[in-house]
Amino acid sequence: MNVGIITIFPEYFEGVVKTGMIRKAIENNLLDIVFENPRNYATDRYKSVDDYPYGGGSGMVMKYDTLKQAIENARAKVSGPVIYMSPQGTPFHQAYAKDLAKEEGFILVCGRYEGIDERLMSIVDEEISIGDYVLSGGEPAAAVVLDAVVRLIPGVLGDENSLSEESFEHNLLEYPQYTRPSHVDGMDVPDVLLSGHHGNIARWRLKERLKRTLVKRPDMLKDIHLSQEEKELLAEVKKEILETLSMLGV
Ligand code: ADE
Repeated sequence: MNVGIITIFPEYFEGVVKTGMIRKAIENNLLDIVFENPRNYATDRYKSVDDYPYGGGSGMVMKYDTLKQAIENARAKVSGPVIYMSPQGTPFHQAYAKDLAKEEGFILVCGRYEGIDERLMSIVDEEISIGDYVLSGGEPAAAVVLDAVVRLIPGVLGDENSLSEESFEHNLLEYPQYTRPSHVDGMDVPDVLLSGHHGNIARWRLKERLKRTLVKRPDMLKDIHLSQEEKELLAEVKKEILETLSMLGV
């Protein structure tokens, strides 16, 4: 996959490309990242990439020509949608990451918080927001999107199975995990996980996923089609929660 990143702070990504999964994906030729800095296309002696807003107001606006040139140069090397990182964008979620992982590539445009010249929207295909808060620039948001998408590229993570049970797959959160020792600070690992009985372990894990989702993210259960087994397990979970509440007199 080819990814273009348009930024006036390419150094922000130095750690990102040198670390962990993204570094491995680059080393294994599964990922190529092209950086384009609008400042390289500035023609005035101050190398300016922003200017005062028409109509007045505080802050600066990223200029049309330098940002456009950077996007076009990235486009010559990277195919796929041009995506502007913006708090006004479509909320980013796992299904969006999966869609992007199917693309040949994409270009992430990082702006400054005051914004970019609106006419640049004529060359932007999509806008992504990583949450309802304002960052000083699109760089942290681009790093988030890059991470979420790259780990879905086939071959990037060693164990493809681990993807199918993680949070948000089938609209359920992930089950709890434990590792050695089996007893620590007075706390034990659930017996079923030590039993070696794969069927029981799978059922316990599915039930825990349902329980967690019900308690932590009940909104996610609204959009989900439950299998017969999941319906039964969810009914068990509800019964257990009600029993606990009545035991506590709540
Ligand atoms: N740029 C500034 N804030 C942002 C946000 N919340 N998401 C994506 N890009 C941004």
